[in-house]
Amino acid sequence: MEDNILEVQSMKKHFPIKKGFFKRVVGQVKAVDDISFYVKAGETFGLVGESGCGKSTLGKSLLRAIEPSSGSVKFKNRNNEMVDVMDLDQKGLRDIRRDMQLIFQDPYSSLNPRMTVLNIIGEPLICNKIAKGNELRERVKHLMEIVGLNSRHLERYPHAFSGGQRQRIGIARALATNPKFLVCDEAVSALDVSIQAQIINLLEDLQKSLNLSYLFISHDLGVIQHISDRVGVMYVGKLVEMTTTEELFSNPKHPYTEALLSAKPMPNPRLKKERIILKGEVANPAKPPSGCYFHPRCPYAKEICKLEAPSLNEVKDGHHVACHFASELDLKGTVAI
Ligand SMILES: Nc1ncnc2c1ncn2[C@@H]1O[C@H](COP(=O)(O)OP(=O)(O)OP(=O)(O)O)[C@@H](O)[C@H]1O
Ligand code: SF4
Ligand SMILES: [Mg+2]
Repeated sequence: MEDNILEVQSMKKHFPIKKGFFKRVVGQVKAVDDISFYVKAGETFGLVGESGCGKSTLGKSLLRAIEPSSGSVKFKNRNNEMVDVMDLDQKGLRDIRRDMQLIFQDPYSSLNPRMTVLNIIGEPLICNKIAKGNELRERVKHLMEIVGLNSRHLERYPHAFSGGQRQRIGIARALATNPKFLVCDEAVSALDVSIQAQIINLLEDLQKSLNLSYLFISHDLGVIQHISDRVGVMYVGKLVEMTTTEELFSNPKHPYTEALLSAKPMPNPRLKKERIILKGEVANPAKPPSGCYFHPRCPYAKEICKLEAPSLNEVKDGHHVACHFASELDLKGTVAI
């Protein structure tokens, strides 16, 4: 599609499980297992799912921050050329990383405590030989201003800043090379709720003013609902549902999505809803169940679910679901957004 900035096809990342003195490979953790999706230019694609389902592995794999096992990642670079990130050599990767950046989860551990803010934010500009000296200082000051930091504080160290301010430093650093696409991995999860809202507002403002596209990863459905245009739901390394935010929350078609939504706190606590308690544990990605990975926990499972894995099919315009009974089940969403 012409207006897509990112197209991911059949992405897999399997981590080998090694045992014994000779480190023999005895199995694979299928952290990301055959995932395809796209992100349109200027949109926010939200990725949600329980801890360990593979969200971070997917985010890092598509930037090749870790090397995927297989798949293709097409990305529209700053010259509007669609390039396959998987085909790039080290130099090509360095170039493309100016256009695609990652914002980390934890503003406390992701900033080097021995570097000043000037050096933290300026590092990508120095490494890519984009600016130095006075020009570097001016660019860092400008970046600090656009993320809402006082640019007079550029010689300070990270410990002098609050959690929210540190996340702003992380965002300024990610923006230093004028990227077009950001992977935000749990970018607000470590912050207090009121600070979360400020950072989300900042990301939304920056998206508009700088024409950015986001892959926004979170386990928090409230945050995902607020910020995303479309959402993908992951379960044990696979995408099980993908559609617009409004459609997902009002008309879910996968039983796992329905269960996740039923556990989401309501904006108005007087509006009661029935919570679906899922039996059993999240499946182990090193030893997933047969057929549909969700079958041991699914309240709607039938015999075929144990035998055959459902593929992700488009059941309605732009609404993709991996469930044998997606068209038949009448599932509950949350109240309209
Ligand atoms: N380097 C690694 N070696 C082996 N297994 C790994 C490695 N990194 C991740 N995994 C496994 O891959 C699976 C997916 O992990 P990942 O961190 O991507 O999940 P996540 O959805 O981001 O979880 P969280 O919400 O807790 O951040 C997990 O089972 C994890 O244990
Ligand atoms: S395929 Fe079967 S087990 Fe899987 S989600 Fe659908 S009904 Fe449940
Ligand atoms: Mg993660």
